[in-house]
Amino acid sequence: MSNPLILGIETSCDETGVAVVRGHEVLASVLSSQVDAHARFGGVVPEVAARAHVEAIRPMAHLALRQAGVHSDQLDAVAATRGPGLVGALMVGYSFAKALAWTLETPFIGVDHMEGHLFAPRLEHNEFEPPAVVLLASGGHSQIVHVRSWGTYEVLGSTIDDAAGEAFDKIARFMGLGFPGGPAIDRAASDGDPTIVKFPRALRDRPYDFSFSGLKTSVVTFLEKAKASNTVPPLPDVAAAVQEAIVDVLVDKTFNAVEATGVDRVAGGGGVLANRRLRARLQDQADRRGVALHLPSPALCTDNGAMIAAAGEFRLERGDLTPWDIDVSSSLRLADL
Ligand code: KG4
Ligand code: ZN
Repeated sequence: MSNPLILGIETSCDETGVAVVRGHEVLASVLSSQVDAHARFGGVVPEVAARAHVEAIRPMAHLALRQAGVHSDQLDAVAATRGPGLVGALMVGYSFAKALAWTLETPFIGVDHMEGHLFAPRLEHNEFEPPAVVLLASGGHSQIVHVRSWGTYEVLGSTIDDAAGEAFDKIARFMGLGFPGGPAIDRAASDGDPTIVKFPRALRDRPYDFSFSGLKTSVVTFLEKAKASNTVPPLPDVAAAVQEAIVDVLVDKTFNAVEATGVDRVAGGGGVLANRRLRARLQDQADRRGVALHLPSPALCTDNGAMIAAAGEFRLERGDLTPWDIDVSSSLRLADL
């Protein structure tokens, strides 16, 4: 089937994302964000997330179809995130998608959320094809993936503790910058001087793995000492130094993988790839080394339904339909696909 029309549904965490995609063209992509519902808790509360998805999923699906100018019976398949993610949240979008596909008598595809992030660059960069190295960095994951071909993924490295987005979120909360922390630090850092303090860069001896929990501890220690001696630097400077420490390791390790694999394409996905400093540093390194860089626009870096539809299209073409009795799985792993 050429250019199938796919409805993609994403509810693995705190965004209800629904999109209609034809081929690589995003006809509509809508999002109901739960940021306000979680902000007062300083992080995503699983039960609150699941309830908010229940409220948002139908209106979002209607809105996406209406914006795309598509009637549900024209759909060639319905795809939804199967995992990894919060079980209660996943079940809402997945069950909705299954019921819709069943009613429409159309194929149903349960998509790995991280495979969705891998496919996001394709929506805007038609030429993006494996082999490539892809940096995936979000609130729940930090991984460097060698995409040998679509469907064949070698996870070269990952975090041994906190994910990069989690580090942004936890440190921002401690600094009183609010939730989600990544965008808050990104904004604050734009007026900051990152050289006022050099926070540690962990796991220098492991080429592709990350560790961010030590960074959090060192920021806390630094700020407590500074408070005690009345020498707290301007927060934008601290934010810039934190951002630089996270960005440094993400960039270094991504390009370690580029060198080791010999690929000439790099891409990225996940909310942290919306970070302006990270994007600029990746571009700079890619230019220096003469490799192509394919970054989704920020709205397609963070969770969305379009990336789920894109991965769903690939699975549909391969005939990888999901049987009706397969349920969500919070612990899906790319390497097992
Ligand atoms: O991919 P995503 O939307 O959801 C997950 O699958 O986790 O990523 C969300 C994460 C959050 O930790 C958020 O703080 C981070 O991405 N993030 C950013 C930026 N925008 C979102 N981190 C740094 N800079 C940003 N501009
Ligand atoms: Zn994600």
